[in-house]
Parts: sequence; C-alpha cells; structure tokens
Amino acid sequence: VPPSVGLTSFPTLQLVDENGNPIKASDVPVNGQKMAMFNYPLSNEPNYLLNLGNDSNQPVEIPATTVTIPATGKTYEFPGGVGPSKSIVAYSAICEHLGCTYPELTFYPPGVKALTFNGPMDKVIHCSCHGSTYDPYRGAAVVTGPTTKPLPTVQLKWDPSTDYLYAVTMIGPTIYGHTDDLSGGSPISGNSTSVTMLSNPALG
Ligand code: FES
Repeated sequence: VPPSVGLTSFPTLQLVDENGNPIKASDVPVNGQKMAMFNYPLSNEPNYLLNLGNDSNQPVEIPATTVTIPATGKTYEFPGGVGPSKSIVAYSAICEHLGCTYPELTFYPPGVKALTFNGPMDKVIHCSCHGSTYDPYRGAAVVTGPTTKPLPTVQLKWDPSTDYLYAVTMIGPTIYGHTDDLSGGSPISGNSTSVTMLSNPALG
C-alpha cells in the first residue's frame, strides 16, 4: 500500500461541470432533484452540494449555527449557506458511521420521508445502511444514530460578481476513513473540481 500523499493545507478549488465550465449558484439543483457530487480536498473524498429549499422548492437561507459532535461533546461553528439566497451548502458524502456513500446516503427532499429511528422524516440526509440521519439545514448535525458524528462541512465561497462557487476548507469531525482531514488519499490536481449530477435515489 503506498503511503498517503495528503496535503499541507486545504486548497481553494472552483466547482466546475464535467466539461470544465464553471458551476454557478443558479445551476445547483434545489432540494436534491439531482444529487450534485464533487471530490474535495482529495480525489477520493466525495461531497454533496445542496441547494436547500422549502416545501415550495424555493431556496431558503441556511443560518450559521453551532454543531455538536455527540462522540466527543465538542462543538464547532457551521458558517451557514452561500449564494444569492444563502441556501447552498456542502457536506461529506461519506456516512460517519461506517462509511456508506451514494446511493445509500442521500437527501430526502421536503415531502419525501426517510424511515428513521425517530419515525418518518423529510428534509434529512439519511443513510439506509444502518439508519443514521443528519440535518443538512443545521450543519448536518446528528438527528439519529447510529452515527455519533455530524457529516463534515465543506465551507464554500460564492462570488456574487460571477455567481461562481469555490470549495475553500472543511470543518467538523474527521472525514470517515481518513486519519485526519488531509491524509489518506491523493490531492486533486489543478485548481478546480468537477461536479457530477446523479439521480436522487430518494426520489425513486
Ligand atoms: Fe451509514 Fe452505518 S454507514 S448508517
């Protein structure tokens, strides 16, 4: 097994489409009609890009909040959403319980309910492997176990003059499967990372 390459600091990477054209905030599907995924900061670390909305699929402001890590009792500051409606957020797409990812881990839009240990719930990121549930409107905080850690946040930057989006750092617990946030894989070459739009398994 080759040693991990890792990074010495988080890179700023522009979000682009599969042809290399910049993703605009207005391109991000509202309420997970498509699951937009991009790797960051390493080539084997997938993340979800979500434009969160209300029951009418209008983007809603996602406020900054303090998130608790139940496993340790520690807290960190989630910066809130970005974009013209402050509705766009990004989280690790690797479940913090035992590492399931797409399609088992996905966003359940308003009106589409996941079967969680707290009953049917919409507006959650839910993992069908063992039932972990996260609240993407509140920093991907833990709603139900078995996970004891929130999904790590990718902090985004939005340029209002161009509508372009950038990934700038990660916040929160260590990404599942990595010894720390910056090792266990290969850095992404260049200054952009491509966003893939996949169907949302929650929408059947
Ligand atoms: Fe997601 Fe276990 S890996 S709940």
